[in-house]
Amino acid sequence: MKAFFDELKKDHKEVKDILEKMKSGSQSAEKTREKLFTKLKEELVPHMKAEDATFYQALLKTKNGRQHAMEAKEEHDLTTLVCRQLEEIPAKEEVWGAKLKVLKDLVEHHIEEEEKEIFKLAQKEMEKEDFKQIMQNFQQEKEKVKSELS
Ligand SMILES: [Fe+2]
Repeated sequence: MKAFFDELKKDHKEVKDILEKMKSGSQSAEKTREKLFTKLKEELVPHMKAEDATFYQALLKTKNGRQHAMEAKEEHDLTTLVCRQLEEIPAKEEVWGAKLKVLKDLVEHHIEEEEKEIFKLAQKEMEKEDFKQIMQNFQQEKEKVKSELS
């Protein structure tokens, strides 16, 4: 169980680091922004999709976790939507930076909620024995989505 949440947290850290770099590089060349954005999507999208398909799918079936799982999935959808919008706007546009800031706030808020509330709740609501399978499925799903993206 701990191993699974540690793995999610590792992914979160990766995403947060990229977002920080994007922030500090906001004045820098368009190419750097675009490169970092591509990297961000490569980390974020497979992670969210795999979480939805495995962890949240299981949390949805619990009595006290259902509402949290639904909200988290909605936040994933919003994140995906903002990413798609960023893809359609040239990175040199002023609005790109504004949307990026919204994405950063959204993702940071979401990660904090997962790490501070949802993971703890899940440990109470879900069976310890189920996590080995969830972790395996999560890794498989993440790789699958990654290969589809590339
Ligand atoms: Fe998430």
